[in-house]
Amino acid sequence: MTPQPFITIHQASASYPVFVGRNLLDRVGELVRARGRVFVITSESLRDRFGDRVAQSFSLGSEIISIAEGEARKTLATAEEVITELLARGARRDATAIVVGGGMIGDTAGFAASIFLRGIDLVHVPTTLLAQVDSSIGGKLAVNHPKGKNLIGSFYPPRAVVSDTSVLDSLSPRELLSGIYEAMKGGVIRDPELFELFESNRAEVLRRDPGTIDELVRKKIRVKADIVSADEKEADLRRLLNYGHTIAHGIEAAMQYEGITHGEAVAWGMIGANAIAVRRGLLASNEEARIRKTILEYEPASLPRLDRQEILAATEHDKKNVGTARVMVFPRRIGECVVVSDVTEAEVKYGIDAVCGS
Ligand SMILES: NC(=O)c1ccc[n+]([C@@H]2O[C@H](COP(=O)([O-])OP(=O)(O)OC[C@H]3O[C@@H](n4cnc5c(N)ncnc54)[C@H](O)[C@@H]3O)[C@@H](O)[C@H]2O)c1
Repeated sequence: MTPQPFITIHQASASYPVFVGRNLLDRVGELVRARGRVFVITSESLRDRFGDRVAQSFSLGSEIISIAEGEARKTLATAEEVITELLARGARRDATAIVVGGGMIGDTAGFAASIFLRGIDLVHVPTTLLAQVDSSIGGKLAVNHPKGKNLIGSFYPPRAVVSDTSVLDSLSPRELLSGIYEAMKGGVIRDPELFELFESNRAEVLRRDPGTIDELVRKKIRVKADIVSADEKEADLRRLLNYGHTIAHGIEAAMQYEGITHGEAVAWGMIGANAIAVRRGLLASNEEARIRKTILEYEPASLPRLDRQEILAATEHDKKNVGTARVMVFPRRIGECVVVSDVTEAEVKYGIDAVCGS
């Protein structure tokens, strides 16, 4: 029997199904209806393990394009490489790009698909936990510019998303953890049960018990789907997804994006935001303690001695800021967050001190 979508996401510009389950890689061809030629775009390192399987699932044939990966390669030049390869192979407007990989591949090859001949059909086959619960959902695509991360991009909803949770078995513990924190963030923003899943099932999550992983992927996709369906272009509700990100971006910048994954930086960013929320009287200290305990139990990479001024300076350039005040997201309780747009520099400093130790 053909698997049914777990959910159909309705955004202002398009609706698309999301399939979630084990061993779906060999069924992508069955789940996705392609109009013309199919191009599976993946990374050199994931091609043998996953890309070839997806390519073989198209009974009428497909072609495979692989690119070198790494955050430093998430650039306009790499997107152009993909486009050059599509042109060399004679791809036309009716082509479908099936993008197989983590968020780096999803963003770069997805962005290429979104601008090639003004956009060809795009299907995400995310292979990291972070990509399954976050980057493949919502239609945002971006590449980096030397001046900053994700500064060039587009809103381009895919035709479909196929998340095969069995591919997560081979993910490194570090990459798994990155996705865990992104999913846990979704629990604090909007779904207390998702947070409790992390709070009460640490062993099952870390040993990748299939039922537990499946449940957390589905719950987090639902949180993100609810938010992006209500607000495709980040006017208001979508800003909730930035919970933990202000201080996280500062930490990542101060560490030159090395030695810490994005999810781990978000984990520390949530701890910092919560400290400010308690000080503002928004969040009760017992709720703050529960969140902190659960975050720390999963053991994010510990922070080296960081220049706090550098973290603070990086938060100033956040694209979400309005004037000199910072816009931040704070929990009121587990499962409910608010956007606050008058956060002062002193408050951000207080949050940074809570993370780095005062
Ligand atoms: N577009 C969005 O809305 C959005 C949202 C969040 C993050 N992002 C972007 O996503 C990127 C991070 O993505 P990521 O965390 O998936 O990292 P990534 O794509 O860099 O992948 C991390 C590593 O995992 C490996 N890998 C992938 N799948 C694997 C598997 N199943 N088994 C073993 N190894 C595997 C990759 O080869 C790579 O070495 C960042 O560039 C970030 O900006 C985008």
